Amino acid sequence: MSSKKGSFIVFEGIDGSGKTTQINLLKQKIESLGIKCLDTREPSDGPIGVLIRQCLTGRMQMDEAALAALFAADRLDHINNNTNGLKSKIDEGISVISDRFILSNYAYQSVKAPLEWVMQLNSQALNTLRPDCHIFIDVAPETTLDRMANGRFQTELFENKTRLTQVREKYLELIEKLKQTENIIIIDGNSSINEIAEEIWQKVSYLFTD
Ligand code: ADP
Ligand code: TYD
Repeated sequence: MSSKKGSFIVFEGIDGSGKTTQINLLKQKIESLGIKCLDTREPSDGPIGVLIRQCLTGRMQMDEAALAALFAADRLDHINNNTNGLKSKIDEGISVISDRFILSNYAYQSVKAPLEWVMQLNSQALNTLRPDCHIFIDVAPETTLDRMANGRFQTELFENKTRLTQVREKYLELIEKLKQTENIIIIDGNSSINEIAEEIWQKVSYLFTD
């Protein structure tokens, strides 16, 4: 077992901002250096994440405050479960990239619930596993909704212009508020896929090279 812990990078942004695209490219780059890298997402594929996805598709109805708490519970399970919990992977030396983490909960749920409460729900997760960096891909909702209209057959709970506009504003406010304590990188998501990948690599390669 390696004595060096893996790195933990999380991607943030509104729906359709290009997170999945960039995570795949970053993972390839990290693996090309011979470093083990796991990509994952939130809501997770665990039991609470599966329940949340039913709420996002409309298959199940849920009060928004209850949903906020479920996102936080899913995150704790994602980190700590003893089958494939992220904390033990990182302790074993595997680097992890997650599509979404605490800032998603803060930004999406503080539109309807008090931010302080949502932050409190996440305090244990953040103390257990603090990201080396949060990469926020910033794109306007008009652009992401257009992009998503091409590739998807179903609209999820928050995928509308009003909510995504509010969420983007929350993200920008949060970044300003948290920049002293969290390492948050803002990327202009309007550039080409390759330009964005290059910029991200410039910002995070220090984590993977001596
Ligand atoms: P997310 O994971 O944030 O929802 P995706 O990576 O799935 O976003 O991207 C949403 C859509 O936008 C996909 O069809 C993807 O090919 C496209 N896309 C991603 N990045 C860009 C970009 N920089 N410019 C144009 N289209 C993009
Ligand atoms: P997903 O399909 O992963 O989003 P994307 O289109 O960005 O790939 O759906 C996750 C949805 O759940 C997305 O709308 C953001 C939302 N979400 C929250 O509201 N709070 C959270 O804590 C998390 C992790 C996600």
